[in-house]
Amino acid sequence: MPNPHFFLTFSLLLLLSCHLLNGQEDSEFGHAIERKLLGLKRKEKLSHFKFYWHDILSGRNPTSVSVVPPTLKLNTTTAFGLVNMIDNPLTLGPEMSSKLVGKAQGFYASASQTEIDLLMAMNFAFSDGKYNGSTITILGRNCVFNKVREMPVIGGSGLFRFARGYAEARTHWVDYKSGDATVEYNVYVMHY
Ligand SMILES: *[C@@H]1O[C@H](CO)[C@@H](O)[C@H](O)[C@H]1NC(C)=O
Ligand SMILES: *[C@@H]1O[C@H](CO)[C@@H](O)[C@H](O)[C@H]1NC(C)=O
Repeated sequence: MPNPHFFLTFSLLLLLSCHLLNGQEDSEFGHAIERKLLGLKRKEKLSHFKFYWHDILSGRNPTSVSVVPPTLKLNTTTAFGLVNMIDNPLTLGPEMSSKLVGKAQGFYASASQTEIDLLMAMNFAFSDGKYNGSTITILGRNCVFNKVREMPVIGGSGLFRFARGYAEARTHWVDYKSGDATVEYNVYVMHY
């Protein structure tokens, strides 16, 4: 039987060393603060957003432009190496004429040599109502031919400070000739 006093002493020692470590981490440029100073006393809430993402490559005003062409030396069926910079409109409904709620700004890059997988790195910059000026940041893998693609929400700003969650993307419409596409996004996000 292990001695219960041993555990007590051990726990106390652990507590003490954590304390000392924390003490050491405090410095002129960083220290612990009260959560309530940032309004984090409120309960975290879960929000759901649904909008449509328009990747427009054709026409005179494309919102998605190739900034790095695919590496031609390798198997090109997956466009491995391609990087597109985007400033894609986000609308309430699937039609471009539908209400604009924000822009998806960032880039996507073809990251697979065997299938069409994109690395998505983008900010949803909202411009509507109380979310105007707030952003949600997505970084994830997008296998574009899958019915549903899940990508992590890795953070946010404004109303989305400390955000975490995920986004589900479903292709609504695609023109294989031009590459133009409309994708439905459902975003589930925990924030304060
Ligand atoms: C590229 O790779 C895919 C999957 O591995 C293969 O099916 C295809 O034939 C390859 N294409 C070329 C041009 O090498
Ligand atoms: C969003 O905020 C910007 C800058 O504060 C402002 O110019 C714009 O009119 C706002 N848009 C809406 C739809 O409230």
